[in-house]
Amino acid sequence: MEDRTINTSAPATKTKTTPETILKIEGGHQLSGEIRVSGAKNSALAIIAGTLLCSEECRLTNVPDLADIKRMGDVIASLGVAIKAESGSLDFDTRHLSTAEAPYELVSKLRASFFIIGPLLARMGEAKVPLPGGCAIGARPVDLHVRGLRAMGAEVLIEHGVVQATVKGNRRRLQGAKIYLDYPSVGATETLMMAATLAEGQTILENAAQEPEVVDLANFCRSMGATIIGDGSNKIVIQGCDRLHSTNYPIIPDRIEAGTFLVAGAITQSEFSVFPVVPDHLRPVIAKLESTGTKVIADAPDRLRLVPQGLRATDIETLPYPGFPTDMQAQFMALLTLCEGTSVVTETVFENRMHHVAEFSRMGAVIKLKGNNAIINGVPFLSGAPVMATDLRASAALVLAALAAEGTTIMRGVHHMDRGYDNLEGKFKALGAKIERLTATDI
Ligand code: UD1
Repeated sequence: MEDRTINTSAPATKTKTTPETILKIEGGHQLSGEIRVSGAKNSALAIIAGTLLCSEECRLTNVPDLADIKRMGDVIASLGVAIKAESGSLDFDTRHLSTAEAPYELVSKLRASFFIIGPLLARMGEAKVPLPGGCAIGARPVDLHVRGLRAMGAEVLIEHGVVQATVKGNRRRLQGAKIYLDYPSVGATETLMMAATLAEGQTILENAAQEPEVVDLANFCRSMGATIIGDGSNKIVIQGCDRLHSTNYPIIPDRIEAGTFLVAGAITQSEFSVFPVVPDHLRPVIAKLESTGTKVIADAPDRLRLVPQGLRATDIETLPYPGFPTDMQAQFMALLTLCEGTSVVTETVFENRMHHVAEFSRMGAVIKLKGNNAIINGVPFLSGAPVMATDLRASAALVLAALAAEGTTIMRGVHHMDRGYDNLEGKFKALGAKIERLTATDI
């Protein structure tokens, strides 16, 4: 087994420009067999932040092998945490933290790393975390995180792009509070829930996010001795304690990766199995797949099989869980481009998450964009074309479109895909897809 310690040193200066990685996908092949789902990226990111709460050593298993996870590891390591990685697991020695200040170069690469502010502040009584900045899909402010921490007694200053939070008083402990979130933000719910586990007294989070990743984080905190009830509903109650102990915790399967595979089956009209999954986490995706004509059968409690039966138009609107996930919007739109009739996709969670529309159009899709509504008139086929992935989920969506298209697609922007999909092309290849990773100089 490979044993590697996460390297936090700055990368060596490159003298030569690295040739660009591209994916070459030959469409039109049926897929068959079974496909394995990795651990959930978004759970793992929040839980890695959560390891900062632990005063002993702890271990995570079923951790996906992703660029974003390595980046989160680098952020945690910069605070003095020793991390050892084996395939699929990470060991953290969080007994001593050497600083409460996270470096800009690391935080700016990964928005989720801002979530360390809650556990860091709870553990150290102070935290200095640079603002993560916007990203391709929207401005993504952190006002809800900050407001909640202030309600718990933190003094928060935002200066020169850095959020500086301090808890005054002898014991430097956050105080439990009743916090109503104006929007059920996943990140704000996670930040505040983590902070509350080590606060003095009870915290009540109202209008909290109900995503399965929030529940996974709560389960992780409980496995270290935290008292949390109500996670998975819109009201979470946390009773703070003095310290949290060691744990060995497995991350849940990634519902967005699983959903991406299910859509791959529908778009290529192929029958294959996806496992391990928690079918309940995929309810909105399964419901919408069924309304396009694909049957999704549970062969076992953790295994789903697709039986495609044609492609019919349907409408989707993204919403906080248990609504249809914004992280499946682009992949589902790929499918709708081939569904007979007119479909409408409405994005309500992020203000700027429609960049993939222009790329689908290059492949022959007929889509009209009106603000955050995409009106899609299904076409009988897509054609392979050179395309550019503009963000993580758009990259997966383009791969799906390419698997179904006639001819060859060359996809650039592969680094987006590597941020959040563990060996996507290898998994599709094993199902019979013709997909290759090349450098731009190879074509
Ligand atoms: C998480 C997921 C991301 C997913 C998103 C919505 C992780 C690492 N990422 O992101 O994949 O797409 O949930 O399901 O878990 N907002 C504010 N103020 C805040 C916080 C959020 O206005 O303080 C807004 C955002 O700009 C966005 C909306 O709320 O428009 C939802 O964001 P949020 O739920 O916080 O998403 P993230 O936690 O960043």
